[in-house]
Amino acid sequence: MSYTVDPTAILCKEAQINCSSVGKKTVVGDFSRIKGSYIGDYCSIDRQNFVLNSKLDDYTYTGPWNMIFECSIGKYCSISYGVTIGPPEHNYKLLSTHPFIYRSKYDFFDDNETIQQQRFEKKLDIGNDVWIGCNSVIARGISVGDGAVIGANSFVNKNIPPYAIAVGSPAKVIKYRFNEEVIDILKDIKWWNLPPEKIKQCKKYFLQEINEQLLKELKQELTQ
Ligand SMILES: CC(C)(COP(=O)(O)OP(=O)(O)OC[C@H]1O[C@@H](n2cnc3c(N)ncnc32)[C@H](O)[C@@H]1OP(=O)(O)O)[C@@H](O)C(=O)NCCC(=O)NCCS
Repeated sequence: MSYTVDPTAILCKEAQINCSSVGKKTVVGDFSRIKGSYIGDYCSIDRQNFVLNSKLDDYTYTGPWNMIFECSIGKYCSISYGVTIGPPEHNYKLLSTHPFIYRSKYDFFDDNETIQQQRFEKKLDIGNDVWIGCNSVIARGISVGDGAVIGANSFVNKNIPPYAIAVGSPAKVIKYRFNEEVIDILKDIKWWNLPPEKIKQCKKYFLQEINEQLLKELKQELTQ
């Protein structure tokens, strides 16, 4: 596998990129560490983030102080500050939850890759255009649908449907961003897959609150 850091990417003070690709015009902030990951074009990873074995697709950005582990995050996501995504699990059914049982550095037992990897066994997928509020934790083993909003300080441990607004600990869906008809059209359009040129042409639809009529017009414009 080859790793590339695009020449237009900006790596700020002491940013570390290990075994990772970083796309066009992406910025990696001070003291952030990206390991085993793919960061798309026009992304921004703010300062003091740690991103491990993850994919962050084009235009997604994070605020400062985030921890992102072994997950896939779609395009155009807004990830606030102090967010933890996919923290590793400790198997509490073993005699101890402490890593001395699988890390040889403690001088008890040999390294045990199986136990180490089990900490990340459950998958985690975050869709496109998802907004995650500050200080939230997104647990492993779930998916967060396209367009969802996660309120500040939430602990998310169940699947969140597309365009739902979920808050609290554990997070519950309190409402949806739009009505069902609008959501159905959005799921169909998947605007985040449009080429940027097309999005530019459709500027007016992005700069006002949407409704079913407007979206139908947009859909028609896209099929022309
Ligand atoms: C989720 C959010 C977008 C909802 O905003 P909203 O539509 O204006 O929501 P409302 O204020 O109408 O709240 C609806 C209900 O959910 C509750 N609620 C809203 N956000 C909540 C949160 N983060 N945690 C717990 N409950 C929350 C409200 O108290 C209210 O409860 P009630 O009906 O019992 O009174 C907003 O509250 C939020 O958390 N924003 C994140 C801000 C952030 O993290 N910014 C960082 C910069 S990117």
